Amino acid sequence: MTNSATTTSPSADPVKFAYWVPNVSGGLVISKVEQRTSWDFDYNRKLAQIAEQSGFEYALSQIRFTAGYGAEFQHEPVTFSQALLSETKKLKVIAALLPGPWNPAVAAKQIATINNLYGGRIAINVVSGWFRGEFAAIGEPWLDHDERYRRSEEFIRALRGIWSEDNFTFRGDFYRFNNYNLKPKPIDPQPEIFQGGSSRAARDMASRVSDWYFTNGNTPEEIRKQVDDIRAKAAANGHSVKVGVNAFAIARETESEARSVLAKIIEQADPDAVKAFGHEVKNAGKAAPEGEGNWAKSTFEDLVQYNDGFRSNLIGTPQQIAERIIALKTAGADLILLGFLHFQEEVEYFGRHVIPLVRELEAAQPLADAAE
Ligand SMILES: Cc1cc2nc3c(=O)[nH]c(=O)nc-3n(C[C@H](O)[C@H](O)[C@H](O)COP(=O)(O)O)c2cc1C
Repeated sequence: MTNSATTTSPSADPVKFAYWVPNVSGGLVISKVEQRTSWDFDYNRKLAQIAEQSGFEYALSQIRFTAGYGAEFQHEPVTFSQALLSETKKLKVIAALLPGPWNPAVAAKQIATINNLYGGRIAINVVSGWFRGEFAAIGEPWLDHDERYRRSEEFIRALRGIWSEDNFTFRGDFYRFNNYNLKPKPIDPQPEIFQGGSSRAARDMASRVSDWYFTNGNTPEEIRKQVDDIRAKAAANGHSVKVGVNAFAIARETESEARSVLAKIIEQADPDAVKAFGHEVKNAGKAAPEGEGNWAKSTFEDLVQYNDGFRSNLIGTPQQIAERIIALKTAGADLILLGFLHFQEEVEYFGRHVIPLVRELEAAQPLADAAE
């Protein structure tokens, strides 16, 4: 991995904010702690409207086909994302797609139509799969870790080709297209392509084909390592990729209040479910040949939040959180993806108390200093 200041310079753009759409039940922590969050549409409609008024630019929906570790009910993300677009004015909604169940012909057509209907506000998150039991339940073959990424890369190449070329012809190992003409094609802005995962295969794929790389929560030092690796590889490929980092935010008036909320979440964690989740995710990052992917180093406490969101440490007062967001930005994050315990009220609080401080710190911090 390289470690030059040029590869780690933070973006001159303001850091962007996204929130996890609770389109599956049980919230974002595997805990019996009270969560004033619902997966139903009335709740989500209001949440999306609050979010777009609070400075959130994106919402990310999730794909789950079966229950696992608390997520007993799961709404389908493309349909759900479209419903959210129809209830909002400027929010961009990122729909999760899982190659295998989705093939690129259907996905390209679905997303192109939604893009046309909603002025280009739809984006996608290509996920590669970690939940073997889910694949078994729906009769999908389970590929090895790096094969899953090889398929995802072809999936993305196929989407880009279908969306941009007439008479698209593609000869892949997973997908074939023959003089295919999609009409209508997406209008500008074209759908942005996000991807989730942190293994070497994930980083390599991002550096070749994705617009955005989403990774699990982590410290600025660990994020910087991933960013350096991706940016160096992307530069060699003549590609550029932006980085989104997951975090579970607990913003309270005092640090001790925020810490005690975290302690309660952990205390009331469901140990069997957390352990079962920990066992299952071995099929993801730990199964990567180099063992570096998501969850490869997660502790019990980390696993209580599905995507290691406590590790980003956005837990404390608005000022502390704003400073830590700047540290993540300095490490190369272009976007912070946020989960909350009580989504509606906390998205509103975050927009009112944290985002303005982030903007102040960004304005006060010359980029040259930020890059050090
Ligand atoms: C921000 C983010 C969102 C994700 N969303 C989903 C999802 O909705 N459904 C899913 O099955 N996997 C999801 N994943 C899992 C990844 O696609 C991937 O399978 C997992 O991170 C393991 O990949 P790795 O071995 O490259 O780290 C997500 C990952 C991240 C970082």
